[in-house]
Amino acid sequence: MTDTNNPLTQPTTQYAVEPAETLKELPEHKTLALENSKPTAKKNYALITGASSGIGEAFAQILASKKKPLILVGRNEQKLKALSAELRQNNDVDIRFLLIDLARSKDMPQLPSKLKRMGIKIDVLINCAGFGKHGLESQISYEDALNMINLNCRATLSLTKLFLPEMLKDNKGAIINIAALAGLFPVPFMATYSATKAFVINYTQALAEELKSTGVKVLCACPGPTATNFYKSAGINTSKHKSLQDLNDPHYIAEQTLQALKDGKTFTIIGAKSTWSKYLPKLIPRKLLLKFGASLLRPDEA
Ligand SMILES: NC(=O)c1ccc[n+]([C@@H]2O[C@H](COP(=O)([O-])OP(=O)(O)OC[C@H]3O[C@@H](n4cnc5c(N)ncnc54)[C@H](OP(=O)(O)O)[C@@H]3O)[C@@H](O)[C@H]2O)c1
Repeated sequence: MTDTNNPLTQPTTQYAVEPAETLKELPEHKTLALENSKPTAKKNYALITGASSGIGEAFAQILASKKKPLILVGRNEQKLKALSAELRQNNDVDIRFLLIDLARSKDMPQLPSKLKRMGIKIDVLINCAGFGKHGLESQISYEDALNMINLNCRATLSLTKLFLPEMLKDNKGAIINIAALAGLFPVPFMATYSATKAFVINYTQALAEELKSTGVKVLCACPGPTATNFYKSAGINTSKHKSLQDLNDPHYIAEQTLQALKDGKTFTIIGAKSTWSKYLPKLIPRKLLLKFGASLLRPDEA
């Protein structure tokens, strides 16, 4: 039996495979172009940012296997093209991708109406794209810091605000925002990243509370250290840090997050390798938390 109120499980018959359609981003001064954008019968899709890698890719694989039509978002065209084709072929479900630099694009506000014209309705939004930079704040470039805020905070907020009204109109839908353990306490040597994830936690928890009597589910997930490209792109050599020796599998993180949503949770910590990370913020004075945070990722030169 299909639970018609659960946007993640839908009848298989809705998902006839159609010719692949690519939503391509043009340079930001132009509008979003939708290739082969002939309107289709209205379908409910999950839009996953950060779907080209790591935890976002794991979400895509799990949801595709449940026959959920997907819009995969990222910048890596080659990866998204290959992943969409693979998921489409393996699962007989409609998978499309959208190339967009979420840290820079000014075209986001047009996205819901463009998708609507294609008969695409988003009833599940997973804001997973994100990155961090490791090092002394004085040495992190201004551009990297702003891009972290733009991607981790601004894009998460923008997509949430843009797709929420339609979900509320239907009184049905789900929004998952991926934060991090690092958002639970200040983390020196990842100061901006930690602050962006604190934003995601506060924003998402507050939103979940506001929407608790509606049919729209909101979940904030805080994964612990996970084996993805995150550390490489942050400039962290995991072998040098004791706290990063036992990394989670991204599939485990995605699965547990979807389970938490199903269980009606609005906040979840997944894969915290030490229970300390989980309880520290509640138990320990902030001054000591800072020392703990600093001990996690202290670079050689600091
Ligand atoms: N790995 C961990 O230990 C860990 C722990 C806690 C929280 N998290 C959070 O989990 C989320 C997923 O990260 P991950 O670990 O899966 O890392 P990852 O493998 O590096 O994936 C990051 C994803 O974000 C996308 N992305 C980066 N910059 C983008 C931009 N400007 N515009 C659009 N997409 C962009 C990347 O796609 P393209 O390159 O195609 O653009 C990629 O798909 C992040 O929010 C991260 O903060 C990770």
